Amino acid sequence: MNTKILLDESKLPRRWYNVVPDLPAPPPPPLHPATREPVGPDDLAPLFPMELIAQEVSGERYIEIPEEVREVYRLWRPTPLIRAHRLERALGTPARIYVKYEGVSPVGSHKPNTAVPQAYYNARQGVRRLTTETGAGQWGSALAFACAQFALDCEIWMVRASYDQKPYRRSMMELFGAQVHASPSPLTSSGAKILADDPDSPGSLGMAISEAVESAAPEDTRYALGSVLNHVLLHQTVIGEEALEQLALVGDTPDLIVGCTGGGSNFAGLFFPFLREKLQGRMDPVIRAVEPAACPSFTRGRYAYDFGDTAGFTPLLKMHTLGHDFVPDPIHAGGLRYHGMAPLLSHMYDLGIFDATAKHQRECFEAGVLFARTEGIVPAPEPTHALAAAVEEARRCAETGEPKVILTALCGHGHLDMAAYDRFLSGSMEDHTLPETRLDEALSTLP
Ligand SMILES: Cc1ncc(COP(=O)(O)O)c(C=O)c1O
Repeated sequence: MNTKILLDESKLPRRWYNVVPDLPAPPPPPLHPATREPVGPDDLAPLFPMELIAQEVSGERYIEIPEEVREVYRLWRPTPLIRAHRLERALGTPARIYVKYEGVSPVGSHKPNTAVPQAYYNARQGVRRLTTETGAGQWGSALAFACAQFALDCEIWMVRASYDQKPYRRSMMELFGAQVHASPSPLTSSGAKILADDPDSPGSLGMAISEAVESAAPEDTRYALGSVLNHVLLHQTVIGEEALEQLALVGDTPDLIVGCTGGGSNFAGLFFPFLREKLQGRMDPVIRAVEPAACPSFTRGRYAYDFGDTAGFTPLLKMHTLGHDFVPDPIHAGGLRYHGMAPLLSHMYDLGIFDATAKHQRECFEAGVLFARTEGIVPAPEPTHALAAAVEEARRCAETGEPKVILTALCGHGHLDMAAYDRFLSGSMEDHTLPETRLDEALSTLP
């Protein structure tokens, strides 16, 4: 009975998997906000290096991972797949629960899987500096680490709510050599405008993206995004490719694949390779996204063209959105506080390829604490959403007697999230309800 299912370094994936050519219809393209025509590579060139733009629109099923990137991946990949025997026993369930543990990366989450190639392609094109936003601080830490690997400068706008909740995430980014600002900040015109209207704004990922995009104007600077875009989802498929091999080693195939969704990258990275197998008739898992009830883009958002940021600097993306003006309540899963969702996932949700559910944070932290007490790993607040859904299904199996195989991504550890656990354990954490009127208001400003 294995607990850790490990792959040798020689099994590190050589290619990323692009799901787009396997879909029954291509996703709707991003549009230029002025013309409403599809954006071309030239429109994106001020923000991203050409190789990432090519990946963004690629129709190739597989894309080679450069050796320089694999070399950095080897610092922590392949990551372990863990059979959660102790959690299963605590739940009294016949289900077999597997977690793909991405918290073993240098910064503690799945985010370096894309930060490293993004830094690499920028450095190869001669870019000197990257700007970005960060919600939970995990993405900012990942990009700071990746920039240190490829000798790039890095400037990060960190959502104010997280900046205040997680001072050591800021320290980690600075340790890797990055410069960090709380967002909204007075340093950019978009930040200054938000502060003028609301000096106490808790910030949001949409606002921090505006600030980072605005700051990427100089010729030697580009912008990096930690989720949402096709190339980010593509890079994360190393998670699912490894998990597929690991489950094969123990002779299991999943009945349920469940992941938390902020912009959707860890969820996509986990399930895309399994979807490829499903489309070829080799397995038939149910696939489920879990989002916070305070920021429910799939379950209560509208599938429409919207800006990716608050100020309206980005192209229009067709996605499940709560409106680019929507400011989510300051829940502790800062990485899930995004008004939109990956356009590729939104398209797939619209096609009925997976289902989605929303959970309140106390139920999620309860699952996180149970996981920590049984399996010994403190999960980041974001993946506690996926764990809560996995626990829910495992409890159902305890009632029905079904020995289902449940697979989830434990996409980050929560060692720097102890303030959130303190709040939960002291009973002072609240669930935030989201009235329909707030959604109506935010959706009324869709472009
Ligand atoms: C640990 C962790 N999980 C999940 C997310 C959400 O991002 P995504 O949905 O792209 O995986 C974040 C984002 O910051 C994160 O830090």
